[in-house]
Amino acid sequence: MAVSRKISGLMEQGSWIRKMFEEGAALKQQFGDENVFDLSLGNPIMEPPPEFFSELKRIVDEPISGLHRYMPNAGFVETRAAVAAQLREETGLDFTANQVVMTAGAGGAMNVIFKTLLDPGDEVIVFAPYFVEYFFYADNHGGTGHAVPPDDAFLPDLDAFESAITDRTRIVLVNSPNNPTGVLYGADVLARIGDIIQRKERETGREIFLVSDEPYRKILFDGLEYSHVFERHVRSIVATSHSKDLALPGERIGFIAVHPDYDEGSELMDGLVFCNRTLGFVNAPAMMQNIVAKLQSVTVDVAQYQDKRDFMYEQLTDIGYEMVKPQGAFYMFPKSPIDDDVEFTAELVKHNVLVVPGRGFGTPGYFRLSYCVTDETLEGSLDGFRQAFERNSA
Ligand SMILES: Cc1ncc(COP(=O)(O)O)c(C=O)c1O
Repeated sequence: MAVSRKISGLMEQGSWIRKMFEEGAALKQQFGDENVFDLSLGNPIMEPPPEFFSELKRIVDEPISGLHRYMPNAGFVETRAAVAAQLREETGLDFTANQVVMTAGAGGAMNVIFKTLLDPGDEVIVFAPYFVEYFFYADNHGGTGHAVPPDDAFLPDLDAFESAITDRTRIVLVNSPNNPTGVLYGADVLARIGDIIQRKERETGREIFLVSDEPYRKILFDGLEYSHVFERHVRSIVATSHSKDLALPGERIGFIAVHPDYDEGSELMDGLVFCNRTLGFVNAPAMMQNIVAKLQSVTVDVAQYQDKRDFMYEQLTDIGYEMVKPQGAFYMFPKSPIDDDVEFTAELVKHNVLVVPGRGFGTPGYFRLSYCVTDETLEGSLDGFRQAFERNSA
């Protein structure tokens, strides 16, 4: 057996998106790409903004001596300073390069954070519905994930959250705007999460870190403002990337930012830098660091995502689907018309529409669709959504 029993088991648990991908590939071969409506992946179809290509060209036209060599494991100081400047402007807190580590995307950032903070048996609390990789990341570093259920608006059930915290809880992980629901956690929710954490810290005598996985932070609709975790808890850490806001998922560029007022921040930073190195990332990609240093205030055209959100929300709710209206990111999480979300997504496959069952995000009875696809794909999917709904609603 080539793969360990443990990894085979984990692969089976995390296979929903892969299954849809395989089904999609088979359908595309049978019916042609244009007749398959694949809404299963969070891979933005938008190209990076023009500023990205200008910066790329600058590097080619005016090569920078030493750019491609090894560097400090935290990343180029100029890039970290640029990230800190943007954070200072957004939060009013006194961020400097010393609180920033450049990483291989948000996934890399979370692995570095978990490796740095977790002892064997420590718990990471996540809020359902969640990005399934969190459980694997916790397991990578000897921790275990613990899911807290949502309320009807897909915000955390705060009573359940409070009772879920134990003396093994080390990390509380939030993701807003959320994958898969598109829901944004407002200042009030984050304030209550912060209060609960602080109360539990006093009770258990243990430090608990609030980690915010926020790759969709800048993809917000209807003029909504982002509420930062830094205002809520001094032991807060951001893990993020430019995979979505600059449409660069293949380039693996992101960062970690640690609250500037945390009194053990310098020890924490040493740990994060050590783990970035020893997990084998060594440092985040050099060219991308050089480029994103210039693009901290640039974002893809969010209006296009909002138009797609409006279109799909209107069309699907007209058909009869129920859902919480997304406020950001590029996902929707409608209720399955039948209890069995796997059966319903299989019905959609019969109409060449690919989505992911809600149980892939720890929340059965729903399904996730990604609308970061072309308008033609969205329009083409509607007939299948209608037929599958009519066949399955009472
Ligand atoms: C909620 C969430 N966190 C993290 C990631 C990983 O992003 P990155 O490409 O920056 O590793 C994704 C990717 O889809 C995501 O949806």
